[in-house]
Amino acid sequence: MNNTRTYLIEALIGLGATLIIVTTLGLYMLNESNRINEAQIQVLSAQLDESITLYAENCSVCHGLKGEGIGATPALNNPALVTMAFDDLYKTISRGRFDTAMPAWSKEDGGPLSDYQIEEMIALIQYGDWNVTGERVVNLGFAPLVPFTTDPDPVLLAEVANLPDGLTLQTAIQIFASSCVACHGADGLGSGIAPALNDPLVRAKTTDELTRTITFGNAGTLMAGWNNTLTTDEINAMVTLVQRWDEVPAGIIPAPDIPIPTTAESIALGSNLYTANCSRCHGPEGQGTPRAPSLNVKGLLTSTSDQALQQIITSGVPGTAMPTWGDRMTDAEIQAIVGFIRQWEATAPEVATPVRTGGGGPPWLRSTTATQSTTGSTGQGDVSPALQPIAQQARPLQTLDWRILVLAGAGLSFAFTLIATGFSSLRKKE
Ligand code: HEC
Ligand code: HEC
Ligand code: HEC
Repeated sequence: MNNTRTYLIEALIGLGATLIIVTTLGLYMLNESNRINEAQIQVLSAQLDESITLYAENCSVCHGLKGEGIGATPALNNPALVTMAFDDLYKTISRGRFDTAMPAWSKEDGGPLSDYQIEEMIALIQYGDWNVTGERVVNLGFAPLVPFTTDPDPVLLAEVANLPDGLTLQTAIQIFASSCVACHGADGLGSGIAPALNDPLVRAKTTDELTRTITFGNAGTLMAGWNNTLTTDEINAMVTLVQRWDEVPAGIIPAPDIPIPTTAESIALGSNLYTANCSRCHGPEGQGTPRAPSLNVKGLLTSTSDQALQQIITSGVPGTAMPTWGDRMTDAEIQAIVGFIRQWEATAPEVATPVRTGGGGPPWLRSTTATQSTTGSTGQGDVSPALQPIAQQARPLQTLDWRILVLAGAGLSFAFTLIATGFSSLRKKE
């Protein structure tokens, strides 16, 4: 009687274990095709996410904020490219287009991108969202300067004619203002995307070296070769300018005056950074304090371009309490602050009414306020300390993995085996 009952219990336990294992496996198999789909979607969206950042860093300068193309550089948001054969796109991006400004991007051809990253770029061109891409380009501070050109200051340009070989320098300055300033910056002082050319280290380079770089470019960087666009004489003039830039008056090549584009995210970031770093001196609404002048005032905002504001904030005002922010913040962060300050222009008063504020210690030693935005953009490469609370956002949780299910199944059957063994030893004792 006792024996029969124990056998029955053992049989039931065995049956239960089998049922659970079968159900687990069944459920897992039912879910499998979904899981494969989801995995593919996840891979694609991870690829797209990375490709957007690669686009911002490498391609936006020529192909535009949202792949719309700039000047003679073709659009990438072009429906014809969506249906273009994968291999043709792969060839174009990896090898570049010979005799055009389109550089080779694959490591094999001296470029910076791996095969996988080139596939990511193709995923962006064929499946990507160009509006999201445009926002990322702005948030990362890579918004291209459109138009590419600026006009040299006429008075200073006339002065250059008095220098030895002044006509050559004048030619070069005009070419620089039309073809190089967007990357190499006002007065050749460099920008976020290209080094300064008005620099002792570059002046020290040999004529051959400089001529080679300007003629053929540097493969795998944004520096394209100019041998198709400029004559040999013009290239020689550019080399002369680079070597004699210390003789050229400052301010001769102004920055192009283009509003810095903003997004909701960049304004929110700018607002947080302003509150954390600037409001103690300039007042919470930019109205000024006894420590620092008002920023929220018509005169300043209408007469100062975004580029000039960015320059002031980056370099500070030497000999005053206005700190240098360029070594504490990225270009993107400073541009976000400029975008935030620019919003005041529409309602700025003619005359400022400064407030009195308290507080001790330099503001950059204080931790950022609790109002940090939760809208961080993903895929930010190097993030400065001011941005870290945003960048440290949790990654989305992984969905339940098949390995967990198999482990759970194995664990359950092991438990059942243990219980069954316990029963059979009980039975033996009886
Ligand atoms: C220095 C400027 C420059 C940069 C940077 C650049 N391109 Fe281009 N790209 C061009 C030019 C110019 C062309 C047109 C070449 C031609 O005339 O065939 C082009 C053409 C292309 C084409 C072919 C378009 C078509 O309609 O046939 C693709 C695709 C492309 N680029 C992708 C990229 C990608 C991806 C990146 C970034 C990894 C990039 N480019 C970076 C200048 C650039
Ligand atoms: C699309 C952006 C872009 C444009 C436009 C551009 N450059 Fe460059 N240039 C670069 C980058 C990026 C580098 C750095 C390349 C590297 O890392 O090797 C560079 C490097 C150089 C160098 C070498 C500097 C050094 O430290 O050795 C010279 C010289 C130069 N550029 C001259 C010019 C001239 C002259 C023009 C205009 C005719 C021009 N560049 C236009 C992006 C650009
Ligand atoms: C320690 C106090 C202090 C802090 C913090 C500070 N500033 Fe200033 N700022 C000043 C002073 C003082 C001046 C006036 C300099 C002068 O005399 O030209 C100034 C000038 C400026 C100007 C030029 C205004 C004009 O009328 O020409 C801008 C723009 C500016 N600051 C922006 C900022 C931003 C943005 C931040 C935060 C990232 C910031 N400042 C943080 C003290 C400060």
